[in-house]
Amino acid sequence: MSGNFGPVTDEVSVDDLPVTGTLPPELNGRYLRIGPNPTSPDETGPGHHWFVCRGMVHSVRLREGRAEWYRNRFVRGDAPEDVPNTNVLAQGGRLLALVGGGGAPVCVAPDLDRMSTWDADGALRTGFTAHPKIDPVTGEMHSVNYLIKPGAESLRYLVLDAAGKPTHAAELPVPGVPMVHDMAMTATRVVVLDLPVTLSVDAASRLAAGVPESGDALPMRWNEEHPSRVGVLPRGGTAEQLSWFDAPRCYVFHVLNAYDAPDGSIVMDVVRYDTVFRDVFRGPADGLPALARWTVPADRGAVSEQIISDYGLEWPRINEAWSGRAHRYGWFGGTGPHSLRLSDDVDRDLGGSFEPGPLVKVDTTTGEVLTHHFGTGRVTQEPAFVARPGAEAEDDGWILSVVYDGNTDRSELVVLDAADVTAPPVARVHLPRRVPFGFHGNWIADDEIGA
Ligand SMILES: [Fe+2]
Repeated sequence: MSGNFGPVTDEVSVDDLPVTGTLPPELNGRYLRIGPNPTSPDETGPGHHWFVCRGMVHSVRLREGRAEWYRNRFVRGDAPEDVPNTNVLAQGGRLLALVGGGGAPVCVAPDLDRMSTWDADGALRTGFTAHPKIDPVTGEMHSVNYLIKPGAESLRYLVLDAAGKPTHAAELPVPGVPMVHDMAMTATRVVVLDLPVTLSVDAASRLAAGVPESGDALPMRWNEEHPSRVGVLPRGGTAEQLSWFDAPRCYVFHVLNAYDAPDGSIVMDVVRYDTVFRDVFRGPADGLPALARWTVPADRGAVSEQIISDYGLEWPRINEAWSGRAHRYGWFGGTGPHSLRLSDDVDRDLGGSFEPGPLVKVDTTTGEVLTHHFGTGRVTQEPAFVARPGAEAEDDGWILSVVYDGNTDRSELVVLDAADVTAPPVARVHLPRRVPFGFHGNWIADDEIGA
């Protein structure tokens, strides 16, 4: 709740933003970010958890080399629980704000001035996800969804076609209500994460009784009794086709990418924590994450793990044209000891694993780490990769990332050369205010939403 983790209280619209450098004229669209923005007493009380609050969307409109506007808006769905805060992306021509484990997606107008719940005629009403996977060729959206609710002993696998119409649904029995934040998808298969963070009956009971303790708003805890495993099923498959493999005991919020190897195994790169919500409950701050390569065997056996980099990093992103294919590069937000402390008022309990830092690029074939430090007191979170039109190389494009400047208490949208992130920024768009530390963001080109 303090420093740039704290909320902003109002909505603004500001036109004609100043730019340092030269914005690539090919960037015609919007960079959108979303995060929690708690402003009511029931959101900021003793049970407060960083992940559970009404969301706020921030959008920067770029067109023909100009930064036309910045706007921020609270997320407004049709029902009190439809206030997603975790991701905002385009699919089926819609701009969707998403959250896992609870409320339905909210469809956001390109100018942010209209919002309404969008649940695909009820199909997304039983808990959706913040991390669906979109096939870069077909535009299909695959999602593995869970509901934070006692007795919700299955996951729901849903496929929507390129127009956003549900085409497949399968219930996957999984006991214990694990927190399923992300998934993986290759060209042929889907990977389900069933890891040892599960619904705590005690925390859920305290929350229901109105006497929450620290972090109970998200009643999920590290669970030594719960297995750690991944499930593999063919795209469009059902529970009967699901195969389980033992996985390292750890937690993974985010998968960088996954692909089918020639021998039938699945290679997936993940950001993994030894534990989360075991020692600290208000956010994922038990320890620092690392980038690991998991190999899921073709037939039987256990997942093997190789650490690619133990440089503290989170918010993994690829060139999404490589989604489901063998990638080489990942871009991340740096965390932990590499982050540049802003000031002493940053919430120390949340410091560590998700504390913002430099932009990080990793070559997964060599483990080489390149960084872009933005200067004293200037930090970023999740980057987005935007391909240069006509590009062939995987890293030919730009990195867009919102940078918070603790010296001025304002934020910038910084554009870097994705191939050479160590070079000075291509452009910096000066935003009229700070963008609080949040979760995920995406570049939405105009043609993705007909805008
Ligand atoms: Fe996430």
